[in-house]
Amino acid sequence: MTTKSGSAVKVLFVTTELAPFSKVGGLGDVAGSLPKALKQAGVDVRVVTPAWPGVLEKVAGSGVKTTTVKTKVYAAYDWRIHSAEVIKANVEGVTTYFLKAEDYTGSQYPYQLNFWTASPFAVFCMQALELKDAIDWEPDIYHCHDWTSAFLPCALAWHRHYRQTGGKSIMTLHNVAYQGIFEPSPFLEASGLEPWSFSSSTMEFYGQVNLLKGGIVAATAVSTVSPTYANEIQTYESTRELSGILYHQRSKLRGIINGLDTKFWDPAGDKAIPKNFSVKDLKGKAECKKELLKRAGLDPKTKDPVIVCVSRLVEQKGFDMVFNAAHQIAETGAKLLILGSGQDWIENGILQAQEANPDSIKLFKGYDEPLSHLMYAGGDIFLMPSVFEPCGLSQMISMRYGTVPVVREVGGLRDTVFDVDRPEGGNGFTFQTCDVDGMMWALRRAVERYNDNKDEWKKIMLEGMSEDFTWDKSAGQYKAMYEDLMQ
Ligand code: ADP
Ligand code: GLC
Repeated sequence: MTTKSGSAVKVLFVTTELAPFSKVGGLGDVAGSLPKALKQAGVDVRVVTPAWPGVLEKVAGSGVKTTTVKTKVYAAYDWRIHSAEVIKANVEGVTTYFLKAEDYTGSQYPYQLNFWTASPFAVFCMQALELKDAIDWEPDIYHCHDWTSAFLPCALAWHRHYRQTGGKSIMTLHNVAYQGIFEPSPFLEASGLEPWSFSSSTMEFYGQVNLLKGGIVAATAVSTVSPTYANEIQTYESTRELSGILYHQRSKLRGIINGLDTKFWDPAGDKAIPKNFSVKDLKGKAECKKELLKRAGLDPKTKDPVIVCVSRLVEQKGFDMVFNAAHQIAETGAKLLILGSGQDWIENGILQAQEANPDSIKLFKGYDEPLSHLMYAGGDIFLMPSVFEPCGLSQMISMRYGTVPVVREVGGLRDTVFDVDRPEGGNGFTFQTCDVDGMMWALRRAVERYNDNKDEWKKIMLEGMSEDFTWDKSAGQYKAMYEDLMQ
């Protein structure tokens, strides 16, 4: 792709998560895999991200070589200069800059937001805007992700200095429910934003600062991670009251479905699972199931289906339905294994379900990347009953590993999982009603199909395993969006 002057369009990914070095959820996966696909599609893309605690150690551990850029980057914020060292690396062909500074020694994802915990995210955005001077490469477009980098479009629109630079920005919404909301004082004075940045049509939100709202209004274009979610957020309550703003901004909003790093998530080459398998030879999957059941302390020879979940345990994911249905799930004979951590009330609900059904339910509490691979590989059914889901990567990963998804028809789940009982067939089981009955209707159908019709089950597994979850098509759509912005 080229600009008017004939050179490739230059895009800087501004992201606070970057798999495999730092990741809170799917945003990290996307930032770690989409740039590689964009590069292949001919976009001159580079990435900037904070060097949170442990990140540079992981980079070194992965064998990626780094160099320190001669010039530091500086940002004026809160009446002092914040500087960061720029550590440059080539991550699988993508030039990546890790910013190393005292500002990034705290939490990568603070759940309690206030001036102090939000400040590193504003500083990061300003340092990203300053990066061009340190590296002698100036982006045409800044591509930002969620509230954690939403200050950047705000700065380009309303900052005393940066608003004169004329930069373009894209705001990609991975989850509108998290908005970066906190007290305006002393942020407004400390940030260098003009006073008009804080009005009901800009960043102000019930008297608070709302970074995501500001980013949506200020960005040159907005995208979100599935076509269905792009429609839902214009009317849907899961936006926590930003739907009006999104409806108003709809002419600059588009939905582009996420892809996967299909080399990383590949049952045929995955080193984290005990036995590899593929569409051509499924045998290894049974070994993975045995190993998983052993890890759970359950009978590895069971003939019953194993239902798995790998998830953040937050309201969005619908786990209250799961623990409220625990008894009914146990009665189907299936085993239910959950890997996740998050809100206490959800963890406790699952633990109680486990106590009441020790032979069929098991919670692996925590965040465990290698175990997640074993769950995807060793499960028969992947349960994802989300209340809302911007895209969802887990259902796609599970399909790659031949684990048949049971999902609610919402957001990106609706765009990727299709019910096998449709006349034209499908790759999973879906339901609409967001309650235990709805979920059990789909889950029972899946368990029965597994028990009663092994040939059909295999066909469903193969259907999912053969889906194209690469980034190729979506990278083309992002490229088209960049092109539109360069007109
Ligand atoms: P979200 O971004 O809303 O959390 P996604 O489905 O888009 O949901 O992405 C979740 C990603 O995080 C997947 O790669 C999934 O495997 C991973 N993940 C979630 N919880 C855990 C966990 N407890 N341990 C390991 N990986 C997890
Ligand atoms: C968010 C969403 C998830 C999406 C991910 C990556 O965390 O909750 O649905 O897949 O971002 O875009």
